[in-house]
Amino acid sequence: MKFIGRIADGSTEASARVILLKNLEGKVAAEELVLVHNGGREDYPNQLLGVLRGGLGKNEFLTHTSYRPDVAYMKYGGEPSGAREVYSFSIKPIGVVAEGGIEPNLAIIQPRSPVYLLEEEDNPLHLIVRGKTLWMDAYMEGHESWRIPVKHEFIPYHVGVYGSTGSGKSWFTRYVLIPLYLKAGYRVFILDWSGTDYAPYYRGLKNAQVMKVADIALDEESVLSYLEAKTFGFGRNDNIRDAFDTYVEGWVKKVEHTLNAAAEEGKDPAEFLYGQLRDHVEAVVNNIDKRWKGFSERAARRVFRRLKPEDLKPVMGTLPVESLFEKLEGRNLLVVDMGGALTHAKLGFFLALARHLYGLMEAGENLKASLVVDEAPQYAPWEPRGIQAETTETIKNLTALGRKRMLNLTLIAQGIKGEIGINASVRRNLNTHFFGRIHPLDAGGEGGASEWLSPYGITSDQMLQLKPGRFYFSGVMNPSPVPLLITYQPPEGAQAV
Ligand SMILES: Nc1ncnc2c1ncn2[C@@H]1O[C@H](COP(=O)(O)OP(=O)(O)OP(=O)(O)O)[C@@H](O)[C@H]1O
Ligand SMILES: [Mg+2]
Repeated sequence: MKFIGRIADGSTEASARVILLKNLEGKVAAEELVLVHNGGREDYPNQLLGVLRGGLGKNEFLTHTSYRPDVAYMKYGGEPSGAREVYSFSIKPIGVVAEGGIEPNLAIIQPRSPVYLLEEEDNPLHLIVRGKTLWMDAYMEGHESWRIPVKHEFIPYHVGVYGSTGSGKSWFTRYVLIPLYLKAGYRVFILDWSGTDYAPYYRGLKNAQVMKVADIALDEESVLSYLEAKTFGFGRNDNIRDAFDTYVEGWVKKVEHTLNAAAEEGKDPAEFLYGQLRDHVEAVVNNIDKRWKGFSERAARRVFRRLKPEDLKPVMGTLPVESLFEKLEGRNLLVVDMGGALTHAKLGFFLALARHLYGLMEAGENLKASLVVDEAPQYAPWEPRGIQAETTETIKNLTALGRKRMLNLTLIAQGIKGEIGINASVRRNLNTHFFGRIHPLDAGGEGGASEWLSPYGITSDQMLQLKPGRFYFSGVMNPSPVPLLITYQPPEGAQAV
């Protein structure tokens, strides 16, 4: 511990500034942790732990808005006096050090109290938590040995990871969050939107199972909404809709049958299925009363001009969603590689998976699982329409029931609010946040990053400049009531997969 200065005038129980000793301005930096001996005492509750933010340098000789002798002197090349220069930092109190961890500070932080900078060997994070604790494989920026504690009972209160593209969200999730969940005894299911962020990394690992989304059977509702989107609402014709609806009944059985039959005849299964679907729709249209038949015939032609045999491929999986979990056979990590599939097929699969998980929870099962959803705005966008309205609602329901049934949702997005963020109704249910380098769209305004973090002295200027892999950790999982800047060391040889 190093003595660095004293508390300045104007402190309250929740805020204070430290005036730095001479020549320390170049050595003490924002985000460092300090211990204040309130009133010069070290007994409970006088040891206050805080984080330095909002540095300020003052030299009243150099006021830039008025003309003073020192300013004049400087203009002609002289070096102004530093005699009245004052450097200070604001201290955001984390709490007072108590027997069982950290407690809110209620006493006024007294001016003149000495302030000590905590150094590597003083690891203060052990003061924040006591007893059995879960630790993240991440540390406080600048202090590799200060690992970050986590309140594991809040894992099912859901997590958001935000940062502009390239800020390191997927890596952070892969190297820090997923290992944390596994350590807490959770199984982890990862939805890899593009199939490039997780699937290649986990493929071949002993503990992980990687599946392709095209192999998995969708439920009939999802197949129907997929076909609806592909055909622009079944040519806006109710007869055609009914025809598709009846064909989709028993879909997986039909697909299985088609796969066998096509194999026997050496044909392409998608073409084969397409032919059967088309025959079915045409048969339905043929049975329609003469007076209305013309409309439906035209609609059918429109629909089959749009729908191509290869469009059926993404919904021709036959592996039931339930058996995904059986396939795990004791492995605790499942990656669904969604690369190559169309958005609708991905969302359709998500609905099938979510319904299954929801069903288990409704039946009273404690899942003890985490569902990691990268590119979350694809599932729950700002203004959801069509199938996205369904997926948004489904995620919201999963978060609500998941809290009671130990299902964690970890949603990853490039932004917090608006067009680049996650739908507000879902976001409200996330209670732990990791904020990386933000997008300028998130810098200000209601619901943006600065609204979340400026109460703690973190400005959007700082957040716009965070290096990859740096995140402010905030919310219920963090034992510190004040967000902390954390980072981690990617494993050696880690590369963009
Ligand atoms: N802790 C770290 N230290 C150093 N570099 C890192 C760290 N984390 C990530 N990076 C670098 O940042 C790059 C981008 O990381 P990542 O793919 O996780 O970004 P992302 O936020 O998921 O981006 P996108 O929004 O485009 O998916 C990595 O390829 C890596 O080079
Ligand atoms: Mg990513």
